[in-house]
Formats: sequence, structure tokens, C-alpha cells
Amino acid sequence: MSNPTLNEFEVRLQKHHDELRWLYMELYNNGSMFYELVENLRACYAERSNDLKGIDRSRETDPDWYRRNDLLGMMLYIDNFGGTINGVREKLDYIQKSNVNYIHLMPFLDTVPERSDGGYAVKDFRKVQPWLGTMEDLEELTSACHEKGIQVCMDFVMNHTSEDHEWAVRARNGEGEYMSRYFFYDSWEIPGEYEKTVPQVFPTTAPGNFTWLPECGHYVMTTFYPYQWDLNYQNPRVFNEMMYNFLYLANRGIDIIRIDAVPYIWKELGTQCRNLKQVHTIVRMMRMICEIVCPSVLLLGEVVMEPEKVVPYFGTVEKPECHMLYNVTTMATTWHTVATRDTTLLREQLDKVFHLPKQYVFLNYLRCHDDIGWGLDYDSLLRFGIQERPHKAYLNNFFRGYEGMSISQGELYNEDPVTGDARLCGTTASLCGLETALIAEDAEAITSSINTIVMLHAYMLTQSGIPVLYSGDEIGQLNDETYHNDENKAEDSRYLHRGKMDWIAAARADEEGTTENRIFTALSRLEILRRNENVFSCAADVWIIETGDRAVLGIGRYLKGETLVGLFNFSEVDRRVCLNDTAHYMDLITGEKRSIRSITIPAQGFFWLKKV
Ligand code: GLC
Repeated sequence: MSNPTLNEFEVRLQKHHDELRWLYMELYNNGSMFYELVENLRACYAERSNDLKGIDRSRETDPDWYRRNDLLGMMLYIDNFGGTINGVREKLDYIQKSNVNYIHLMPFLDTVPERSDGGYAVKDFRKVQPWLGTMEDLEELTSACHEKGIQVCMDFVMNHTSEDHEWAVRARNGEGEYMSRYFFYDSWEIPGEYEKTVPQVFPTTAPGNFTWLPECGHYVMTTFYPYQWDLNYQNPRVFNEMMYNFLYLANRGIDIIRIDAVPYIWKELGTQCRNLKQVHTIVRMMRMICEIVCPSVLLLGEVVMEPEKVVPYFGTVEKPECHMLYNVTTMATTWHTVATRDTTLLREQLDKVFHLPKQYVFLNYLRCHDDIGWGLDYDSLLRFGIQERPHKAYLNNFFRGYEGMSISQGELYNEDPVTGDARLCGTTASLCGLETALIAEDAEAITSSINTIVMLHAYMLTQSGIPVLYSGDEIGQLNDETYHNDENKAEDSRYLHRGKMDWIAAARADEEGTTENRIFTALSRLEILRRNENVFSCAADVWIIETGDRAVLGIGRYLKGETLVGLFNFSEVDRRVCLNDTAHYMDLITGEKRSIRSITIPAQGFFWLKKV
């Protein structure tokens, strides 16, 4: 009997071949390297397991599979969460109990612990950090996850390798072939030119964009830490080899690949070396490569930039690039709203997002492993007399508990000694004041922090896209100060919110009345409602409702005859709003009937109201 799937690779290749070749030749003008690429795509397809090919086929026939309202993510560090990969596998029940069906495993590939940037300095793309497990363990975990309907996401750190990667070691030894895979200069002439236009990512912890290598008498480009060497994508060997690594990882059963720091991958003298048009050519090629070899895999772009820079990474509807992007400005604007209790800027920001094509899927989040950079729309804030520098200082003071009545606990990140700019770290719970409230044993303050945590999650779940929880937030985990005593971490305050999962606290989620239980059960109720109500699907129309009160955010959703109104009170006092709407609504949480012609939203509270 003939195999009906024999030719699926060729069919997919045919669909994209001409465009792929065109883009490849535009960048590299190298036919033999393109031929090699295609041969390797074929080999990677052949190597892909039948189970994964089955998933590919089913998702090809259901391209909206990730655009509904049933995905809920959680990002976690393997060691903090389960000790090892096998440990994570043993904890899948907890993942399911948390209503999560997509886990982002933070970087776990081989790295040197003293120089790892949280795993974002990869020594070997085909080896797991030995203390976390093996590639076989990873494959067992991904297939165990698939059996339970859980998707697995991992990072593909493509902008750089660690200085301990084989290529870097050989480059340092003077092998020209490998030096050409990075940016090597024997004098300061060209690096000095770059420094005139390229901003700094880590101005305090890793100033500058180049590192001097005394043993080989060269500078090497290091946009991030000195031990993270930027790859030179002008060299087709780099692109090809990195694509083979990418497909190798996809073939281990990874469903979602987060392309780390993608705006930085192409460098051009005289520019900022961010978001150049060649970056988009490469991402478009990656999208086609996925669709040819592993069409079930989603690309999640990490573009931590202003909205005008983020949206182009979706590509166009005809020529898509990433499937998903972080809703980063919304996240930062959310915390600005927490501090100011004024939803004006957040409404404007959300309004822009709500007007984008529905094909564009955002990953919504409150906190992640990185700092909060205050990338707000300052032109808009200026209309209200709010200026960037003093406002950032205000936010940083607020979230360190220095401002007015604030009981937040956070720490600064990468305070720039020249510009005075700084970003911020801390867990959701600590930023919402829970840590201070618990230490003070102040029951009222504890309740108000819990209310804020729950309201923020409800608001996050109301947006279209894929909500992703930061592990520990579901039980209100607090900051972890212990990193101050670890010499490999002390300099990097992002470790403040990268603490070990507190399993004793997690067990308290089952004990009625505990802080953990109050947060966990409230979030759980919301997550289940979201999953069961189609109006939360990405296909819904979404709009901002004018509430007449700056402290109250209103979001409307409509899908196939169903309407949902979400009202979120960011202030510490009850607010009454009067909406010009005579319809009857049902409170999704309590089942009570409500009218929104006049409704009081409790301090730091919210409503999810469905039209009846
Ligand atoms: C991304 C990661 C961040 C890391 C950087 C360098 O921005 O989120 O944690 O430091 O890339 O790889």
C-alpha cells in the first residue's frame, strides 16, 4: 500500500520553495549553501518522529488551534520547580491542577554556571545541562506532556553563543572559519564606530557592546554579557547551522519556540543594530522552515520594544513571521496603572492592541523572568504633564515602597549611572504589597494585596491572546533575597523574582483560608471560566468601555451573540460607575444578576459580567 504521507514534505517545500530561495539568495547569494539547507530540511523531516508528524498534520488542518480560549501558560525554571527534568515530569499533576496546559521551560541547555545569564549563554545547543537531565529526559517529558494535552515551550537563544561554545573556543584559538561566525576586530577602529550608534542593553552589569580578548588580541562583539558572543548572521554557515540546531530541538517534541532577543540578530555599522530589515527576512525564513519541516511548531518572538517595532514581527497576513509576540508595552503600562491608579494610558495602549488584526496573537503576562523596563508611551503621558525621567523615578520609588502609601517591595535593575535610568524587579505578590503586609501581619493590607493580585490576573485573562503565568504567582510567591549571597547572581537583581518554588506553601493552596488558598482558588475560578466561555476566544471583538472614572478600566468582548463586560478598579477605594446600558448582566463569578447602569466596584476589585 502506498504511504499517503510520503510526499507531504515535498508538498510543503513546493509551497514555500521559491520565496525561501528568493530571500536566501537576497541575503547570501549562495546557491550551494541553499541547496545544503534544503537537503538538511529533508533530513530533519525524515528524523522527525511519527507522533510529532501526527501532531503536525492535525494542526495543519486546524490552524486556529492556538487562537481560542483554552490555552493557559506558565513559565518555570526546571531547577526551581522540579529540581530536574524528571522532577518536572513528576509535577505535571500540579501543572494540571493549576489549569495550565502550556509550560515554558526556562533555558536548560548546556551552559557554564558562573557565566550563564540564567541559561541564555548556550555552550551546546544539543545537550541539556547535566545537572538537569538529558535530551532523552526532555523527550520523555515532552511526550508525557503531549499525552496530557500540555504544550512545551523552550528558548532558542539565536543572537549569541556562550564563549564556551565549540565555535567560540575555536575562534579564540584563531581559526578563521570560526572567527567569521562572530564579529572579531583586531583594533578599536570599527568597534568604536559601532559604539557611536548602538545603545547598551546592560549598562551597569555589562557596559559597552564589545569585549577585549587579550589572549588572541581581538575585540569580539558582545551586545549582552561579555561571555555571550554575538553570532554573525551575514555568514550563511551561521544561519544554516543555527537552523539545524533549531530543527533538532523542535524534533525533541517542542511545540513553541521562543526566539530570544530576535531584534538584535543582524548588525550594520551606523545603525542601532536592532530591528533591521534583514532580521525580518530571517524570521520569515524561519517561519517557512517550520511550515516545511514541523508545521505544528509555533514561533514566539521575544521583541521587548515599543509597539511600532513589535507588530512588524507578525509579518503580514500573507507572509507571516512570528505566531505570537509578547504584549510587553501593555505589561509595563499595567504596572504604571497600579502605581498611578489612572487607567488613561492603559486604555490608549489596549485600544491600539484591540484594533490589530485578530490573526495577531499576543502573549499576555504580568511578570516574567526579566525586569520591568519602563517602556511607556511618554509622548502620550506628556499631554498630562508627565515627563519620562521623573515618572520613571516615581515608578521605581513606588515599587520599592518609597512613595506615599506604597507597600510594594521591589529592587532596581541596571540603574544607568549616566542617564539615571533604571528598570525594576520583584514578584507580582511582592510588588502588590503582599510581602510587607504579611510581615506586618496586617490582615486588611493582606486582603487588599490579594485583591490586587486577583484583579490583575482577571484583567490579564480578559485580554485576547495567550495568558502566561509566572510560576509561583498562582500562590502569591514572594521575592527571594537569597541571591544577594550568591556571587554568581548577586550583581543581577532579576534573581529576586527567580526563587525556588515553595512546595510547602503550594500545599497550603488546599488549606481553606490561607493566603495561598485565597489566591489559588480565585485564579482557578477565573481560569476555568475563561476556558469555558467562548467569548474569551481570540476571534472575539474587543473594545474599551468608557467608564467615566479614570480608576476604572472597562473592557467589552463580543463573539457570536455573547457579550462580556469586564470592569476593573485599580484604586484602593470603592468606585461607582454609571454606564449607559440597560441590558441585564449576570456576574460570571457569583451567578448574581447585575445592572451596569449603576454599579459599585469594590476597591481593587473587578466584575466579569455576561449579558443575559
Ligand atoms: C532575553 C532574555 C534575557 C536575557 C537576554 C540575553 O532578553 O529574556 O533574560 O538576558 O535575552 O540572552
